[in-house]
Amino acid sequence: MAALLLGLLLFAMQSPPIPSRPMADEGPPLPPTSSPTNNPTTSHPNGTLQQFPQIIIIGVRKGGTRALIEMLSLHSAVAAAQNEVHFFDWESHFEKGLPWYLSQMPYAFPDQLTVEKTPAYFTSSKVPKRIHQMNPDIKLLLILRDPTERVLSDYTQVFYNRLQKHKRYQPIESVLVKDGEINLGYKALNRSLYYVHMQNWLKYFPLKNIHVVDWGRVDQGPLPRDEKGGEVLKTGIADKRFKFLLQ
Ligand SMILES: *[C@@H]1O[C@H](CO)[C@@H](O)[C@H](O)[C@H]1NC(C)=O
Ligand SMILES: *[C@@H]1O[C@H](CO)[C@@H](O)[C@H](O)[C@H]1NC(C)=O
Repeated sequence: MAALLLGLLLFAMQSPPIPSRPMADEGPPLPPTSSPTNNPTTSHPNGTLQQFPQIIIIGVRKGGTRALIEMLSLHSAVAAAQNEVHFFDWESHFEKGLPWYLSQMPYAFPDQLTVEKTPAYFTSSKVPKRIHQMNPDIKLLLILRDPTERVLSDYTQVFYNRLQKHKRYQPIESVLVKDGEINLGYKALNRSLYYVHMQNWLKYFPLKNIHVVDWGRVDQGPLPRDEKGGEVLKTGIADKRFKFLLQ
């Protein structure tokens, strides 16, 4: 666990953070809408400011993105956005422009890395281009898990939501298979076609900017139930925020 966390941070820190001010010889500063590197905007008396993210967790839905951002935010070098921002995939948000996006970011100290996560980004075909326009050097984290398990988890979440709202639901057999074939029109299934979506990202970002985390490796945790407390503490997994990793 510790090694994974360290690896992610090293990956994120490979290139220097976005410069906070334009260079003197670049002429007058551009308005924030056209230059996201025109960080920071408002800084607070306590020394924090809102910065554009240097890292975005782009997916995948039901892949453990919450666990990943929680783990990262344990590190003092990281400031994580509380909610899923849905800036690049929801038109109603995207229309508000980059100043709005910035306003959704957590207050961070200048030497901290800002991270946001919106797992729907990975499967939205318009998102890679938009993120690239904001910052072509940004680091992207993608946490993947077994695609079949992911579909089941996705279905289960929707199933319970509908059950709670007393809405009708379709049994899984009827959504997965249509006319005797795998039903690729089923959105949850499409989300597990990782190669389809990945190709879209690779049109805009080199592989070195995309760090893939394998949920299987985070999740399998070589931790039998009777593991000694000391061992657990050493890996940091005893922290209650990691509990869901062990379930
Ligand atoms: C600094 O001020 C901001 C804005 O009021 C606040 O959200 C943040 O929690 C403060 N941070 C610290 C470390 O005091
Ligand atoms: C799956 O999703 C991608 C991206 O949104 C889309 O381009 C593609 O047409 C979808 N495939 C199917 C079979 O629905």
